[in-house]
Amino acid sequence: MQRKTVLISEPNAADTPAPFLPYIWSILKSHWERHGDRDYFQWLDPIFQNDTPAALLRPYQQGSIDVLGLSCYTWNWQIQCEIAQRVKARNPNAIVIAGGPHPDYKDRHFFRKHPYIDMVAVKDGEFTLASVLSRLAENDREFSSVGGLCVPGPEGEPVCTSAPIVPNIFDYSPYQDQSAYYGQLLRSNKVFHATWETNRGCPFSCSFCDWGSSTMSKVRRFDMQRVEADLEWLARNRIVMLFLADANFGILERDLEIARLLNRLRQKYGYPKYLTYTASKNHPERAIAIAREFARTGVCPTHSLSVQHTDTEVLAATARTNISSVKQIEAAKALMSSRIPIDVQVILGIPGDTLEQWKICLTDLMEWGIHEEYYTFFYHLLPNAPAGEKSFLDRWQVGTIERTTFSDPRQPLEKGPLDRLRNTRGRLIVETKSYSREDWVEMATFATLVKALHNASLTRLIAVYLRLTHAVPYKKFYGDVEQFFMKCALAQSWYGVLRSHFQDFLHNTDATDHMEVSQLPKLPYMLDPARWLVVQVCLQFDEFFDALGDYLVECYPSATNLASVLDFQKNVVILPSYARSKGKMFHVDCDWVQYFDQAWGRTGTERLDEPTATPGAAVEVTDQTCGEQSYFVQPLDWGNGGREDRWLQWIKHCVLHRNSVAKNNFQHLRLHLAMVSNE
Ligand SMILES: C[S@@+](CC[C@H](N)C(=O)[O-])C[C@H]1O[C@@H](n2cnc3c(N)ncnc32)[C@H](O)[C@@H]1O
Ligand code: SF4
Repeated sequence: MQRKTVLISEPNAADTPAPFLPYIWSILKSHWERHGDRDYFQWLDPIFQNDTPAALLRPYQQGSIDVLGLSCYTWNWQIQCEIAQRVKARNPNAIVIAGGPHPDYKDRHFFRKHPYIDMVAVKDGEFTLASVLSRLAENDREFSSVGGLCVPGPEGEPVCTSAPIVPNIFDYSPYQDQSAYYGQLLRSNKVFHATWETNRGCPFSCSFCDWGSSTMSKVRRFDMQRVEADLEWLARNRIVMLFLADANFGILERDLEIARLLNRLRQKYGYPKYLTYTASKNHPERAIAIAREFARTGVCPTHSLSVQHTDTEVLAATARTNISSVKQIEAAKALMSSRIPIDVQVILGIPGDTLEQWKICLTDLMEWGIHEEYYTFFYHLLPNAPAGEKSFLDRWQVGTIERTTFSDPRQPLEKGPLDRLRNTRGRLIVETKSYSREDWVEMATFATLVKALHNASLTRLIAVYLRLTHAVPYKKFYGDVEQFFMKCALAQSWYGVLRSHFQDFLHNTDATDHMEVSQLPKLPYMLDPARWLVVQVCLQFDEFFDALGDYLVECYPSATNLASVLDFQKNVVILPSYARSKGKMFHVDCDWVQYFDQAWGRTGTERLDEPTATPGAAVEVTDQTCGEQSYFVQPLDWGNGGREDRWLQWIKHCVLHRNSVAKNNFQHLRLHLAMVSNE
């Protein structure tokens, strides 16, 4: 008898730098093989690459497909729908079951909109799919008694069966179970990334979040033998990058031990090279100990602080509580004292936020002593997150747009038309009762300004000096700088472009938030707005600093060494005019090197005296690279091409990816005092 076939489809996001090994497939298949009739179904090789549906389905053209399982996320929903449609057209009797966080089964028209989907599996799919397969193995197509499903009711509306059974025991490694198939993939010697889990679930219920459909649930931990087995397998098989899918790594006491285990295996096998993970928001001591472990070996050189917003009322409106700002500051200080670069995650457009509050949020981070890489996400409305509920949408009078979005919006985007099907389409909140669409444009523009000028340290040192020595709050300083961007002709033109860009983003369904640098036509990609602004400023560097200097000196006439810090800031920005073989020297009349060393990690209220006067002194710059450590380190080498090529190389090394003082400003600075004559 010909065996029935099961095809699992879990296409990667279009913008992952390397494909992820198909993981959901191995979880589902391993579970079935351990609990069901192993020989009854033939599991076809899974779909996991990102390509057109026609290309993805090509290998299966000859045979029939009896069960199609779709693992649906925002990044593959369009492709999955098209795949389901095509499979159903060729195999009308196939059962199509959609799982993952994305299917919007709360929409009463869901099955009318997606007639090619027979049922939706909610939450973890192992037991649910196994029950469906068991029914099919007995030629039974009645699924109403299978828990964890939503099926079309008499009127076509989704009707959910009983609660799903979710696994509580995780005692074997699907990677090991399915190593025969993975071995074939890995023998190609291509680079693969992989998903790794050590627990499932998150006890919190932040409105925006739908992490693995497992929020608002207790944390279900994997057996340590499973954790070790998965990790050993992944390291031995030379997986380059691991994405740890735990919602809050560090939430469990044992997580520090797991971090050490990862380091030990990495030392033994040389892999994984990199790890990305999301740290627990409410266990700062453990989160920092883990960050130190990962930074020590370089497997994850930065630490992400998941802040979302600094205002407790805005957080409350999105059902989130953070640790207090005092504790956040302690955590930031501890990270900085270990020289672990910090990324901060914040969300632009939380219902309840306002333009004013958003400006306070970004400048609060500066007041906390955190100056680098504010990772500003647009608020994605995920259909099964609490924010997707009608009551939430009505209460906040939410307005949304659907746009192409990216896993990491900081990445450059290759020029050329976007493939709407293969790229992620996300629903973004751009209007609520507390802010208008115009406010949203202003919020996005202000965030761009802060990220370009402060995070990328074009004006950060000036801001720090005025804050620590002249008590000018960061909010006031960037408010003044924003005014400068509205008044000064040069900066005004950039601000105008940014505003129209975000307005266009609101109205044009094909827009992305990436921008083209028209002065550099050879640049093969577009940049996110903050990096675009960095490039604009640097292309007209002297003119910008001259105008800004005049303006600031007028704003702050009593700041004794303002002109001097402006000059210092200007001299330490890395530009393509720098020749690393020669280094450079510039004059200073204050010891800014020592001053900024002392300023490191200070909160806004930790005062610092004026720098020591050093008339006639000079600073020698000898930097050969930029960036903190590990993969952030980039050579200050612009190649041998012409002017435009040098700019292109500079963008590649100094503008893309993480921005920080170590990335954008010279760090190897030596002060030479003037020789004082005795005569
Ligand atoms: C999955 S979250 C979880 C991290 C961690 N558990 C926490 O409590 O923040 C990782 C980051 O993605 C961002 N994020 C998650 N869901 C989002 C959404 N719907 N819209 C915008 N950003 C989101 C948040 O900034 C968050 O810090
Ligand atoms: S944002 Fe983090 S803490 Fe909040 S529900 Fe999502 S995973 Fe849990």
